[in-house]
Amino acid sequence: MKPLSNYASLHHLPELAGLCSFAEAAQPGLLIEECVRRLKRFHYCLKRMHELFAARITSEPIYELKMAFAHHAYLCAEHATAIRTRVSEMREPPLGLDAVPHPALEAYFDEIRNAPTTEEFIYAIYLDNASSFLDAIEKYQADTNPLTDAPSRRTLKFARLEIEEIFQFGMKAFEALGSPGTHKNWFQEIMGPLEVAFGDWDGTKPTSNAPFARRYSEKPYVYDPVPKRDQRFQDLWNQGVNAESFLYSSEYPARAKVLMMLYKRMREIDVPEMMASIIHETTGKPWEYYRAMTRQMWDEARHAMMGEVGFVALGVDWTQARITFNWSYRLNTECSALERHGVLFFIEQGLMPKTGKRYEYEVASESGFPLAATLQDFDWADEVLHSQIGRAWFVTQFENLQKALEYGDAAWSRVLSNWSTVRDQGLTQHENWWPGIYTQACTAEGVEPDGKVSAFSETYEGQRADRKGIVGE
Ligand SMILES: [Fe+2]
Ligand SMILES: [Fe+2]
Repeated sequence: MKPLSNYASLHHLPELAGLCSFAEAAQPGLLIEECVRRLKRFHYCLKRMHELFAARITSEPIYELKMAFAHHAYLCAEHATAIRTRVSEMREPPLGLDAVPHPALEAYFDEIRNAPTTEEFIYAIYLDNASSFLDAIEKYQADTNPLTDAPSRRTLKFARLEIEEIFQFGMKAFEALGSPGTHKNWFQEIMGPLEVAFGDWDGTKPTSNAPFARRYSEKPYVYDPVPKRDQRFQDLWNQGVNAESFLYSSEYPARAKVLMMLYKRMREIDVPEMMASIIHETTGKPWEYYRAMTRQMWDEARHAMMGEVGFVALGVDWTQARITFNWSYRLNTECSALERHGVLFFIEQGLMPKTGKRYEYEVASESGFPLAATLQDFDWADEVLHSQIGRAWFVTQFENLQKALEYGDAAWSRVLSNWSTVRDQGLTQHENWWPGIYTQACTAEGVEPDGKVSAFSETYEGQRADRKGIVGE
């Protein structure tokens, strides 16, 4: 076989639509069956990564890691979706995507899911898993024909970009936390042999069906739905400042209301803490459900970070406010997953009318702090999307919208106010932290505090826990 030696494109334009050279396209590369086999493995890895990140969000105390896990769960869900779509285009029914490619690969991810320390989890999922996954993607890109399999190469190009970012985050996190070294023995004795048994991330190395050992996943996995926070979060049961009452009062200036809104945004850490438990505990739904819910969970994590950014920009140390976990704690321990979803939907529907997100945006616009308008504008848009996600995935489980709302309302009403209980148990004094935060903002801005604003002192006492907007995420 002798290829044409003098063949060239017209005017020497880039050939083959810019995909590759003739020499590259003339390599036979992989056939459909092998492509599908490898892509299904990648899909499995992304699905497990999504599951594992989501499962850690609630019980991980460190705020930065919580936020990153929400982000990375979302990225994995998006790329798993893209690969599902691609596989379904390759003469392959989308069925079979839920099959476990190799029992040792399943055990590998089970081990990471059950890893007892954050450091081990980070080492395993980011440094080991993500870096090997990147190698397997690169191998696929090199092995497949760039013309015949251009759609898969494109899908994986984008996956590669973000898995690289996930990996980089993990490297920095591992460095920052300092390694206790506990992963070494685990990797030597358990994880390394598992990797050998499943024949690399793409399964291109010889695999083994010999029995393998487990360590952390020997016992069944127990999901921890109790939210945890790091040391910067104090007085977690505090309900001493009624943020909604301040925000919706006509008595106070927009600038001060913005500060209260930033508090409300940051308090939204409790939404990913709560949504992660719904995602984890709800089984048997179509993949699209998990993708939509994960998108919303990531948005809520972003809302919390928007609050953080606003505080930092205004020169306010947010740790002096009380970013409580009362809501996620109680929903996660007192309601079923469907009830939690119902409560979330009920609250989010309440955000849509005039007093909801539009109002917050208008207050932010009037405040003379342009960043606040940006934050609230996007927060509002996200909430409109969440309302649609709720209609698609929550309401459809009921006869109609009214019944769905009633279900959420009833679940929320059942969670009775614990204002006095937590005080009587000595868990909090419901300290009024507002004047401290407000004074900080005024000092940073170089203005005198407004006496009336400083004097705001209204708690959540006597507020029914089901009062609309009490959370007002
Ligand atoms: Fe939100
Ligand atoms: Fe939302």
